Amino acid sequence: MQRSTLMLSVSPLTPDAATMARAGEMLRRGGLVAFPTETVYGLGANALDEQAVRSIFAAKGRPANNPVIVHVARHEEAMRLVSAWPADAERLAERFWPGPLSLVLPKQNIVPLVVTAGGDTVAIRVPAHPVALALIEAAGVPIAAPSANRSMAVSPTRAEHVLKGLDGRIDAILDAGPTSGGLESTVVDLSRQPARLLRPGLVSAEEIEAVIGPIERLQQSPVASDVILASPGMMERHYAPQATLELAAGDGRERVLELHHSAVRVGWLALGEPAAVPPEIHCIVLPRAPAGYSAGLYAALHRLDELGVERIIVACPPETAEWLAVRDRLRRAAAG
Ligand code: TXA
Ligand code: MG
Repeated sequence: MQRSTLMLSVSPLTPDAATMARAGEMLRRGGLVAFPTETVYGLGANALDEQAVRSIFAAKGRPANNPVIVHVARHEEAMRLVSAWPADAERLAERFWPGPLSLVLPKQNIVPLVVTAGGDTVAIRVPAHPVALALIEAAGVPIAAPSANRSMAVSPTRAEHVLKGLDGRIDAILDAGPTSGGLESTVVDLSRQPARLLRPGLVSAEEIEAVIGPIERLQQSPVASDVILASPGMMERHYAPQATLELAAGDGRERVLELHHSAVRVGWLALGEPAAVPPEIHCIVLPRAPAGYSAGLYAALHRLDELGVERIIVACPPETAEWLAVRDRLRRAAAG
């Protein structure tokens, strides 16, 4: 499985055609190429090549029972991969694609079972990133891609995060700088009635309901076991840094100082404009708005891991709907 991993730099808005052709060729030959999307970096393989998709699972150490999302450039390509394209799929695709929404639909036979973890549905999305779209075009095939991290680790929002986890295990990384969204796509299951939210993300449940009416939300803690069965990526411990992450009540400052005084190497993920703490405490401040917070969260966790802290104290974001996806990821990172 040892490969030498090429780092290929591309412009995020106008990726160089020759570089994209080279990456597309790697995918067509069964290789693994990490690429940016508007959410996080994905680890891509030709979705129609069973062996290639198998090697994604090997590179990540991903359990075979966790299906991967297929990325396409247009609705019409999505429709070729499914055996039913309900009106709700058309409405959601029309409204949110390209964008951070993955639709789960009954799969067509051409989609290998390794993609869907043996199931009869496939998750599909059109990513809103010029490099991702150019890669799909260059490869000429749909691209299966989970987040480009080792299984259970924090998702990558920069090429360096991908390299840290997967160097020597994949063929190339397309480096187009930091991703803008920062959290993985919303996953909604349209293969059943009513539709069901499997993973909250940057497209909110309310926005989806405004288009297709009420959907089921099973997002309590701990995550309901039927959601885990329906979408194994929803298993409780996930997106976790090396350090133990603790969600503080309130801004977390007192807890940070308490740990610091007991000689724990502590990192603080603060919100807004926190009060000062001793300089030995690694403090990363994230914005008090969900979009900015989401964009910076994973890079902050990667950074605190690099700094070698043992404990990360996170200021608890508000309990409102707009923070649902952030709270979901923090809760998972803190579990276990
Ligand atoms: O934003 C994203 O979604 C990123 C970028 C690369 O597109 N991808 C991503 O993939 O986060 P991954 O593999 O880390 O998460 C995919 C999630 C998992 O929770 C998985 O269980 C669920 O989608 N999923 C995939 N296919 C499914 C299916 N057929 N039915 C139910 N859930 C599915
Ligand atoms: Mg993932």
